[in-house]
Amino acid sequence: MFESLMLVVFLTSLVGADKSLPEDFTRCRQSDPKLNDCLKSAVPDALRRMKTGIASLAVPQMEPLLVSSINIDSGAGPVVITQNYRNIKLHGLTDSVLTSYKADLKNYRLRTDSITPKMEFLADYVMKGRILVLPIQGKGIANITMVNLVVKHDLIGEPKQRDGQTYMHIRDYRVKFIPQRVVLHFTNLFNGDKRLGDQMNLFLNENSDLVFNELKESYEKSLSSVFQDVTNKIFDSVPMNKIFLED
Ligand SMILES: *[C@@H]1O[C@H](CO)[C@@H](O)[C@H](O)[C@H]1NC(C)=O
Repeated sequence: MFESLMLVVFLTSLVGADKSLPEDFTRCRQSDPKLNDCLKSAVPDALRRMKTGIASLAVPQMEPLLVSSINIDSGAGPVVITQNYRNIKLHGLTDSVLTSYKADLKNYRLRTDSITPKMEFLADYVMKGRILVLPIQGKGIANITMVNLVVKHDLIGEPKQRDGQTYMHIRDYRVKFIPQRVVLHFTNLFNGDKRLGDQMNLFLNENSDLVFNELKESYEKSLSSVFQDVTNKIFDSVPMNKIFLED
């Protein structure tokens, strides 16, 4: 009896048309004159509660956030490198705080700035290329750490109707990364030649602004699509008026 009841509950939750935010998420009201302030604290609070993911919404774990791969082909300029990252782990996102929030729900647009005290990007890497006049190549583990990383998020959404409900689908998620400092470390450069590897790591960090600026756009593109997927896991399954409450 109990088992069949469980089965009914389980099946209902599978076919149920719309879903809700987890109980412990703070809800903000659309009509609240302080809506932006409400979201500014509700969103990072939700992020912290998503550390291990939300099974019912198929939201993956956020600490660390896993990304399968990023390929970077930086063409011209002082940094010409082909880089391939696999098994990426992003640590530190859930420590982010928001410094501003601008919700324009009539136009399905959300803009927010976050600051992440320390974002660690750890991955298996393969790279080959040239930085300034120096050749670089290696295959090992990369640690790219961004300190006091400011991220400007611009979420451009559109309404989607389903079963009489409106969902706020994010069709474009743009980010800009502005780190205060970037610390790079690559193990096993130059087939494990320690002297060359140490010199190159030193060189990369002395020129980290240049190196990072050349690669920034690729990181931004890859990570914005990860952020978009996570946001849409929630926004595509929870009706808009259950995220931003109507009166
Ligand atoms: C990655 O680099 C940062 C900055 O140097 C360091 O604090 C952190 O411990 C490193 N992480 C790992 C897993 O080595």
